[in-house]
Amino acid sequence: MDNRVLVTGAAGFIGSNLCERLIADGYYVTAIDSFTDYYDPGRKRMNLSNIISHKNFELIEEDINSCDIREIISDSRCVFHLAAQAGVRMSWGKEFSVYVDSNILTTQKILEALKENKRTKLVYSSSSSVYGQTDKLPMCEDQILKPVSPYGVTKLSGEHLCELYRINFGVNTLSLRYFTVYGPRQRPDMAFSRFIIAALTGGEIEIYGDGRQTRDFTFVSDAVEANIATMQYDGKETIFNIGGGSRVSVLEVLEILKNRISENFDIAFLDRAKGDVLDTWADTSVAKRELGFSPRIDLEEGIEREIEWYRNFLTSNKQGR
Ligand SMILES: NC(=O)c1ccc[n+]([C@@H]2O[C@H](COP(=O)([O-])OP(=O)(O)OC[C@H]3O[C@@H](n4cnc5c(N)ncnc54)[C@H](O)[C@@H]3O)[C@@H](O)[C@H]2O)c1
Repeated sequence: MDNRVLVTGAAGFIGSNLCERLIADGYYVTAIDSFTDYYDPGRKRMNLSNIISHKNFELIEEDINSCDIREIISDSRCVFHLAAQAGVRMSWGKEFSVYVDSNILTTQKILEALKENKRTKLVYSSSSSVYGQTDKLPMCEDQILKPVSPYGVTKLSGEHLCELYRINFGVNTLSLRYFTVYGPRQRPDMAFSRFIIAALTGGEIEIYGDGRQTRDFTFVSDAVEANIATMQYDGKETIFNIGGGSRVSVLEVLEILKNRISENFDIAFLDRAKGDVLDTWADTSVAKRELGFSPRIDLEEGIEREIEWYRNFLTSNKQGR
């Protein structure tokens, strides 16, 4: 039991990085993922290629909403719940039902399974999108939450459900609010991925808005570290901001890419997307005090690592590997 953990959304960007770290630390990892087609499922298989054959790793290819999750969880010390439909822009309109299924119903199903199982801890992957548009910066865990996208609403619902099951049934839940995570294997719909691919291939970079919006960027290994620290935590706090401490504008990110890759790309400024906030900035003092969280990778180094990963990715794709 002490060495067994479950990771949901294990084939995704953050989930696969977390699984690798858990395997390296000697855990037995059960991984569940339904390989949704939001982006290429082949990429998700590649995400797991380093550990898929490891003796301590088991992959279950199922949708959480249609499998026996109680049985799958049974002897896990911790469930890291990362499975979700991500992406702000697609969350409007008819796709909203996908967000409800993957972000709210999955979470409720896991919480129901944990009602009778108090030994297992649930670490829920939440998001800075729960804050919405606010002038109160940096964002603190206890400020008013007013998400401005349907995606943010579903992530907040998941968080609220965790709190409800903790208070009413004693389920051991904690939530991590990540601020824009980036690094190797980043989802292809995210800004850095789109920018780096365009810069490496001489394409056009599309920016929503005027580029002066700011984000607190978090390198993926720091988000992974926060998950590990949360599994080991037994204090009183239940919600933590996880931000990398590298808050810059999109225009500043472009300058870094110009310096590191080339000036050889066009920029198209598009309308600001509905649901995108102007600024994010994490107050991480609670995570620092309680979890010992201290981001290690700054933006320059983190971007360099993501560029390197994309160079290799594009080369191996070209060679048809
Ligand atoms: N990447 C970020 O910057 C960021 C920021 C804040 C919060 N988050 C949260 O972190 C988590 C991981 O995000 P990511 O960027 O790695 O996304 P991702 O899309 O790469 O990974 C999510 C995985 O969940 C799987 N999945 C979706 N619905 C499922 C279901 N019903 N059953 C089983 N598997 C399912 C998908 O196939 C996918 O592989 C998500 O909960 C997301 O909301 C991410």
